[in-house]
Amino acid sequence: MTNDNRHIYLDYAATTPVDKRVLEKMLPYFTQGFGNPSSIHFYGQQAETALEEARQKVADCLGCQPGELIFTSCGSESDNLALRGIALARKMQNQSDHLLVSPVEHHAVTRTAQQLASQFGFELEYLPVDEFGRVSPEDVASRLRRTTALVSVIHANNEIGTVNPIREIGLVCREAGIPFHTDSVQAAGYLPVSVDDLNVDALSLGAHKFYGPKGVGALYLRRGTPLLPILTGGSQEANRRAGTHNIPYIVGLAEALFLSQTERETRIKHVEPMRDHIIANVLEEIPGSKLTGHPQKRLPNHVSFVFNGVDGNSLLMLLDVEGYACSSGSACKTGDPEPSDVLLALNLPRSLALGSLRITLGMGNTPDEIAAFLNDLPAMVERVRKLG
Ligand SMILES: Cc1ncc(COP(=O)(O)O)c(C=O)c1O
Repeated sequence: MTNDNRHIYLDYAATTPVDKRVLEKMLPYFTQGFGNPSSIHFYGQQAETALEEARQKVADCLGCQPGELIFTSCGSESDNLALRGIALARKMQNQSDHLLVSPVEHHAVTRTAQQLASQFGFELEYLPVDEFGRVSPEDVASRLRRTTALVSVIHANNEIGTVNPIREIGLVCREAGIPFHTDSVQAAGYLPVSVDDLNVDALSLGAHKFYGPKGVGALYLRRGTPLLPILTGGSQEANRRAGTHNIPYIVGLAEALFLSQTERETRIKHVEPMRDHIIANVLEEIPGSKLTGHPQKRLPNHVSFVFNGVDGNSLLMLLDVEGYACSSGSACKTGDPEPSDVLLALNLPRSLALGSLRITLGMGNTPDEIAAFLNDLPAMVERVRKLG
């Protein structure tokens, strides 16, 4: 699907190709069903039908009401809207000014929380994590305050693959009456995202991580959760997010999510054995290698290591020359000489954190590709070590 004879794509956590079935559902809405769903006429009605069908499809996947969904332009926007929108609304409502956030969030959450702290008078408290980057529900419980505006804990981490006990953390927040947001941007491709099972009040999605198009996301917001709109203008999304709907992309998001949820078992069966093979092989064959993230409670397509005495960016460049597309930590970090905040939160020494490699698998990968990769990797790690 994604690979040619010279290149092997091993970076599905950065983005995925659009599933052909998803593309087929999207195409008619570029040229025929192109109307603006806010228009009164036939064309508008046609687009509105597509919009509401997509909304229902996403709602069915999440087990929520269609009115509890807000379509956005990406996972980052969903995170921004959840954090800023809920925190500011809670502050206006009852002066809540305490934010409880994990230190292993995507920057879409951390940078927003940091801005709320530096510019809007919130106190930002980071939750502790264990050596695998997991947050414990007990730590959340002991830090909740009457004035906590929002708790945000990532569902499955993009850099280290660790899956958090969202359901249990959600229960703690629910009992205290504090809104709880989770970033499921990486999780939704492989894990169930039933919002009632997860006990969440807000949940972020981004379509391009599960074979949908880039540039479209969604935020689930439990009915009754306060929200200050961040994008103001038209009355779209029940006055919670202005802007003409991107119908083809929203249709694509809905279909991609539906396929991820209905084909979950098949997808896991495809990637998980390759994931386990890479982990076992690298730990055995490459001295000075260490798995990052939880050994079991991790995404089924996610592999991440740190290598002693290796510059992660040099390794990525060498891998690229040899035809392997991987990543170190999050894609946005590539070319950034600073170690990732997520890896530092695991208490890894800076030198080790700089030697990270992330391999994320998808439906386009084959065992033969993995065999070729595993055959070539040890020599490349050695070459980069010698450079350093
Ligand atoms: C966990 C997580 N949250 C949020 C995002 C941002 O999503 P988007 O690229 O759709 O803005 C990403 C993308 O890397 C992610 O992995």
